[in-house]
Amino acid sequence: MRDGRATERKQPPARVFLKAATDAIHDEAHKLPLMQRLADSTMTPDDYKTLTHRLYHYYVLVDQRIVAGCAEAGINAGTYTYELRAPLIAKDLQAMNKACPPHLVAPRGLPELPPLSTLAKLAGAAYVVEGSLMGAKILERALPETVAAPPARTFWRWCATVGPERWAMTRHFIENACPDDSSRIEARSAALATFKLFHQLLHPTLVPQPEP
Ligand code: HEM
Repeated sequence: MRDGRATERKQPPARVFLKAATDAIHDEAHKLPLMQRLADSTMTPDDYKTLTHRLYHYYVLVDQRIVAGCAEAGINAGTYTYELRAPLIAKDLQAMNKACPPHLVAPRGLPELPPLSTLAKLAGAAYVVEGSLMGAKILERALPETVAAPPARTFWRWCATVGPERWAMTRHFIENACPDDSSRIEARSAALATFKLFHQLLHPTLVPQPEP
């Protein structure tokens, strides 16, 4: 008689599944001109203003969806607690004397982030925004102080400081939220959508609108 346990297939961690599913789009993010210049320390002060504006726009959308997703899922404080990014980025815009509402005109057809209506979808989006803190730690080191003086680098400092702790919390959350194939598939679609929105908002064809 065969032992059932011997034939049981052990699932890899959900984080490994999400990493494999998003490796290609993550690599593409490195090729976005603003990200490239950030990574190789060739960013100009004007680039930094543009980047900060675009990140602000991105996180306004993502913050809203994640906060709504957490409320809908009834997340316990101990499981996963989100921290808003847009107010941190707003401080940087203020330090550079830039108005907070993003003066950007998105190209037609720009998708919104779909609602994070299940725990698994919330986990997929959390994977992207919290995982990005790992790369942000490296990028913060590459950002010269001459381009982003301390009052205008609140967001990047925050990423570098809280990244490891938030990533550990998020990894637990992802594994609990995605125990089976169907939840992983939901998480994957939300993770890809969260990356895709980043690509759309950081893309060079996004035309900045003249400031009022
Ligand atoms: C030039 C741009 C970027 C660079 C150089 C970069 C670099 C990195 C590095 C080195 C790691 C691994 C850190 C570690 O394991 O200790 C990482 C992880 C990650 N990054 Fe990026 N990154 C960039 C942009 C982004 C963007 C724009 C996003 C999302 C919007 C993102 C999402 C992630 C995620 C989700 C992980 C976790 C992957 C995993 O281990 O499962 N990254 N990044």
